[in-house]
Amino acid sequence: MSQSEPTAAAVYPVPDAFAATARIRREDYERDYAAALADPDAYWARVAQRLDWFVPPTKTRDVSYALEDFRIRWFEDGVLNVSVNCLDRHLAARGDKTALIFEPDDPAKPAQRISYRELHARVCKLANALRNLGVKKGDRVTIYLPMTPDAVVAIQACARIGAIHSVVFGGFSPNSIADRIADCTSKLVITADEGLRGGKTVPLKANVDAALKMPGTNSVETVLVVRHTGGAVDMQMPRDRWYDAVVDDQPAECEPERMNAEDPLFILYTSGSTGKPKGVLHTTAGYLVWASYTHESVFDLREDDVFWCTADVGWVTGHSYVAYGPLANGGTGIVFEGVPNYPNVSRFWEVIDKHQVTIFYTAPTAIRALMREGEAPVKKTSRASLRLLGSVGEPINPEAWRWYHEVVGDSRCPIVDTWWQTETGGILISPLPGATDLKPGSATIPFFGVQPALVDANGAILDGATEGNLVLLDSWPGQMRTVYGDHARFIETYFKTYPGMYFTGDGCRRDEDGYYWITGRVDDVINVSGHRIGTAEVESALVSHPLVAEAAVVGFNHDIKGQGIYAYVTLVAGEAPTEDLRKALVAHVRKEIGPIATPDFVQWAPGLPKTRSGKIMRRILRKIAENAPDQLGDTSTLADPSVVKSLVDERLVK
Ligand code: WTA
Repeated sequence: MSQSEPTAAAVYPVPDAFAATARIRREDYERDYAAALADPDAYWARVAQRLDWFVPPTKTRDVSYALEDFRIRWFEDGVLNVSVNCLDRHLAARGDKTALIFEPDDPAKPAQRISYRELHARVCKLANALRNLGVKKGDRVTIYLPMTPDAVVAIQACARIGAIHSVVFGGFSPNSIADRIADCTSKLVITADEGLRGGKTVPLKANVDAALKMPGTNSVETVLVVRHTGGAVDMQMPRDRWYDAVVDDQPAECEPERMNAEDPLFILYTSGSTGKPKGVLHTTAGYLVWASYTHESVFDLREDDVFWCTADVGWVTGHSYVAYGPLANGGTGIVFEGVPNYPNVSRFWEVIDKHQVTIFYTAPTAIRALMREGEAPVKKTSRASLRLLGSVGEPINPEAWRWYHEVVGDSRCPIVDTWWQTETGGILISPLPGATDLKPGSATIPFFGVQPALVDANGAILDGATEGNLVLLDSWPGQMRTVYGDHARFIETYFKTYPGMYFTGDGCRRDEDGYYWITGRVDDVINVSGHRIGTAEVESALVSHPLVAEAAVVGFNHDIKGQGIYAYVTLVAGEAPTEDLRKALVAHVRKEIGPIATPDFVQWAPGLPKTRSGKIMRRILRKIAENAPDQLGDTSTLADPSVVKSLVDERLVK
């Protein structure tokens, strides 16, 4: 390798010591990857035996991506219950094993260890209470809770009675809660008085109150309120009920609902390139097979592991690798209420030492932020318990990867860079730590049964080392089944761009070793600190302000967040741009969507670059936001090319 070649191409072989005891070694991976392709029915019928079934499936897969004959069904005649798989079946051998370790926001408060027996009882009590409140199989329940064991209990209790949960991240605004409640007509909301993050309270109950005043939310009959901080809240009787008053006296056993494999398990709203967030729907058996099988394989799970996924349960990572996968596998997982930099920037590493965490799974944005603080806050901790590190949510730049590997993992722990999406239910492209040599910045190779391909703009499959749009050629059990209430949108979004294939929305490069390098979204979705935000959502929040005539939003590269939000705003005629108005617009977006959608920059735009047919040319706006005015390309097709010059002159990053 020449001096000038980026060290990103360096290879980190599987450490011998790791391979020696790994569940899956290179030859196992090669054999099983080939087997899953050669006879998917036999392969997945065997994998499905990892679950406990009331009635085992006789059918394995029934899949067609053809538009005229579209269907995705896995294990369709099987009958099971997810919470039985996550709790009951472990009671005999693991009843006293710790299922969850709760580490509160404030390290001075005691941590809690919850055994499988205790978690089972808590889930059963809530499940009974929900049934008493009239929640039946198929009803929707919205969960808006802090990152505490209550959130896992709520999710599992819904699964026990066959209610479809929709978890809304605690950082979303009343508007966003209301939209999500209205879309799936939830019957009941589970929330808490307040959340706590980094020493600050989040007014969860007050946000729910505000949401329920908005149109479209009158399906909600009951709001269950967990006492968490003890902060004062308004209780509106008879709608609002204290959780402890309703739940504590319930029996600690609860008959689980018998669920069909393809019955819905949950809805999780996620941003797309157009319109409002869509309700990604996952079903029972396929999802649990995928969450548990990937969790065990990718993290090389052992009986005595302490697994810490830092994601909030409000995101899919918290669903699959906090609330479902680890419990289905009888593992011990950490539930962390806090943030990486409170009360100090050693917090993550101190928690790792405190609870002897063996596997740590976090997002590149956190790694980059902590890397900026230098090595000292890491080095003052031991981290000797760690044996494996993971990354998820956005591409990890090689520099951050190496810091994670060398400083956090003391060059001892492999890193699994796991690529997947809300839609995929679990990890699809990732190293297996005992089988796959690593390259910093690459999610490496596909998991069993996963068939990625790169296509050009016309959908032609590209061979060899190349770059293109990432598609998946065939189904896997954890695939989403529909957009809740809008099956046409599901097909339109994922299966029409390249007929016969699932389109991920990601761009990707494949190198000469067949390794995949995700380059980021190719649609109008931006990934801010690992959280998906649609440019259309931010634009519609901006134009809902009375002084805004038009808005266009693009992403730009951000050192810590991966991508930031850059908004171009045209005011209504006669309005003068002021610094106060700029601040007011930023506050307006935070109120409409939530703090995660806060624009980093708002540039005043007397006009936007549009084609003669009126389409905004975002390519040009992206280049201006990235301070690359010399790369605007052809602007001759614009209706009024002169607007570009003024936008370039006034750009906010130079
Ligand atoms: C991005 C999160 C590069 C990607 C699990 C994808 C990644 C989107 C990686 C899904 C990774 C996720 N490397 N990019 N390891 N993991 N992404 O739905 O653009 O919140 O399409 O699911 O995140 O985000 P979502």
